[in-house]
This record gives sequence, structure tokens and C-alpha cells, in this order.
Amino acid sequence: MSVTRVLTGITTSGTPHLGNYAGAIRPAVAASRRPGVESFYFLADYHSLIKVQDPERVQRSTLEIAASWLACGLDPEQVWFYRQSDIPEIPELTWLLTCVAGKGLLNRAHAYKAAVDKNTEAGEDPDAGVTAGLFMYPVLMAADILMFRAHSVPVGRDQIQHIEMARDFGARFNHLYGEHFVLPEAAIEENVATLPGLDGRKMSKSYDNTIPLFSPREQLRKLVFSIKTDSRQPGEPKQAEGSALFQLYQAFATPEQTADFARAFADGIGWGEAKQALFEQLDAELAPLREKYEALIARPGEIEQVLLAGADKARRIATPFIGELRRAVGLRDLREQHGGRKAGKARAALPVFKQYREADGRFHFKLVDAGGRELLLSPGFASPREAGQAVAALKAGAGTRAFRGDALWLDEAEVARLGEGIEAGDVIAALEAFAAEEEA
Ligand code: TRP
Repeated sequence: MSVTRVLTGITTSGTPHLGNYAGAIRPAVAASRRPGVESFYFLADYHSLIKVQDPERVQRSTLEIAASWLACGLDPEQVWFYRQSDIPEIPELTWLLTCVAGKGLLNRAHAYKAAVDKNTEAGEDPDAGVTAGLFMYPVLMAADILMFRAHSVPVGRDQIQHIEMARDFGARFNHLYGEHFVLPEAAIEENVATLPGLDGRKMSKSYDNTIPLFSPREQLRKLVFSIKTDSRQPGEPKQAEGSALFQLYQAFATPEQTADFARAFADGIGWGEAKQALFEQLDAELAPLREKYEALIARPGEIEQVLLAGADKARRIATPFIGELRRAVGLRDLREQHGGRKAGKARAALPVFKQYREADGRFHFKLVDAGGRELLLSPGFASPREAGQAVAALKAGAGTRAFRGDALWLDEAEVARLGEGIEAGDVIAALEAFAAEEEA
């Protein structure tokens, strides 16, 4: 089965609200449980620094968002769940991409352009108060996505332009240095709920009309009772269409419950009674999650551990990949020999596989470079044929290979370990050179 890699980031600049839950968390957790999907969810805390310069708030928001996703059922064993700033390869890739990103393209990014337009209108210098961070936002986001070769990026409509930019930077890099990146697609969920806030406009922190996802029960009740309604009295028929109260209810109810609620509106349910019904509906879904959330948030050390383990898991991909990219652009060990990029890798520079038998009677192979360094060492195989098959698969680039720590896995079996002082990135480049030769 071909696997789709889905990746999305959550900026750590606020407290999750009902709109985030219905629009992002709930669908993402459900999607992460489908077969054939690899999910990457991360806390975009480097991005948050562009907007938030209050350290306590950045930290608090990181804790709250991590606890919320976990409380809502995200399983860190099944997905990659990490904090962006724990992956130093991401800022490193940001620089490599910065060097291929067109400045003119960045000039046209919506958020930057909006800031410039606002300044211009106010008769100010166009870049007044605009940081280079805001300008570079799309490059950092492209690094997030390209680093993990994500196919699909679920985002809101306001982020489509950023995904297009990621494709642009990735394509330019591929064109210059070879096919390293997967070009991602934006995934816009059409039938995911956008929730109205207390005042009927879209629920958003910037309108200050949100209902925090894990408000204590009593506060949730208060907020629900403060939702704006019209002055119709009990007994007067009410319009379900366009009612914020109704839309909120619908996002938490079955189709049958929703139909009943619409009927109650037509029959003139009083606003107080309708609000009570909405409150109960929300609380029924949220109360068990709230309990988990409160338990989690009381133990930040455990969340920290989960995130560090997630970073570890993500870096098993990022570390060898950045090694490959560094080599691709020419940031290389000076001892390495390369024919020109166009001429392909020089044959003489390729390491060689050597097969041998050890005293225990088992069959091994190792990969040795031109300078005699042992790059890879296999465990013992029962027969020369098995050892030979592993070598052939590695040479041909067949099968799924990945480093986990210093172990090289091929299709779910460990086939070798790194030699003393050898980096996974070096070996990956060598293996890629073999595969390229096979193809040529
Ligand atoms: N810019 C995204 C937002 O504001 C957050 C984000 C950062 C992101 N990096 C990402 C989303 C990578 C998807 C992929 O919503």
C-alpha cells in the first residue's frame, strides 16, 4: 500500500478554542487513525516568535496546545508529534531554502503585503515595524514541510499561498541539486466546520469572541449563555439558518439531534432553553476530554518527555536527510571525491560492498569506502544468499530503507549498523550513488 504523508503545524500563540477543535484537532486526530496515512503534527513555536514576544505566553501556549492534542486522542506512538524548535535541522534547511527562494515571490506573500499596504496607506515607510521574520515566514514553513517529504498539508484557505511557495522553493532546489524534495499539496477540508464565535462572526482569537476548548464547566456555561441572539421571545419561531447557537450545536450533534433542534427552533424554543441544550451537548463531548486535559496539564514534565521522544523520532528522518542535502549543495567532507554534478558521481569514489564469513559460521557484509573506512557492518546472516540479497537491495535502492539511530533498516528488518564515527548522511549519499549507477 502506498503511504500518504500528512503534515501540519500549529502555531503556539494562543489557547485552543472550540473553533480549533472542530476545524483542526478533531478531524486531524480522526485522520491520523486511518490506515495508509503517516501523520506529522508539530508545534510551530519558531513561527510563534514572529507574532508573540512574550516568553511566558509562548511557553504556556506550547503546553496548552500539546496537552489539548493529546487529551483529544492523538497517539504519539502512532504519529510524529514534536516541537519545531527541537529539530535543529529545520532552521538549517531554512537557510538552504532561503538561498533559492525568490525575494520577489516573498514580497507577494499575503501577510507581508498586508503589512506593507497598511503602512503605505498610513503614509509610513512601507516596511515600518515589519520584521525580517514576518518576511521569511514562508521559507521557514517550507522547511517544515519539505524536511519530511510531506505529500499533503491540511491547512486553512489563508495558508494555500504558503504551500505554493513551498512547492516553488522545493522545485527550484530540485532543479539545481537533484530530486531531493517531494512537492506538497495543500489539503483543504471542505466539510469541516468553521464555527461562529460569541458575536456570530467566525470564532477567532483576533475577534476576541472565542470559547476556550477546555474552559472549566461553569465558565463554559457562562460563555454559552453569553452567545449573541436576537430579541425573539419564547414561543416565537426562530431561524436556525444563520444562528450562531444553532451552528455550534450542529458541530457537536448527530444529524438526528440537529434535525430535532431545528424543529425546536421552528416551534419557538426560548433562547435560554436553547442555550442550556447547547451547553449540555458541548459538555457531553468535552467533559471526558477536559478531565484528561487537566490531568496532563498538571504534569508538564510528562508532556515534555512526550515531545522530546517525538523530536527523537522526527530527527531519525531529519538528521540523515539534512546530511544528504548538505552534500547536495556542496557542504561536504573535503576528503570526498566527486565528479562534476552533471557528469554524475565518479565511479572511483564509490565505496564497495564486501561479503565475508566469520568464525561463528555466519555470513556478513560490510560497506567500505575508498579510504578504507567501514561505513556499514551487517549482522550475521544464515546463508550467503541472504547477505547477498540485502546487498543487492541496498545497491538497487529497492525497498524502504531508513536509519533508526545507528541501525539501517530495510523493509522492517535491521540489515546493518553504522561503522565507528560514521554519519547516516554519508551512507545515504553513498547508497544513493549506487542506485543512480544502477539506473544509468
Ligand atoms: N502557518 C501555519 C498557520 O498559521 C502554521 C504552520 C507552520 C504550518 N508551519 C507549518 C502549517 C507547516 C502547515 C505546515 O496555520
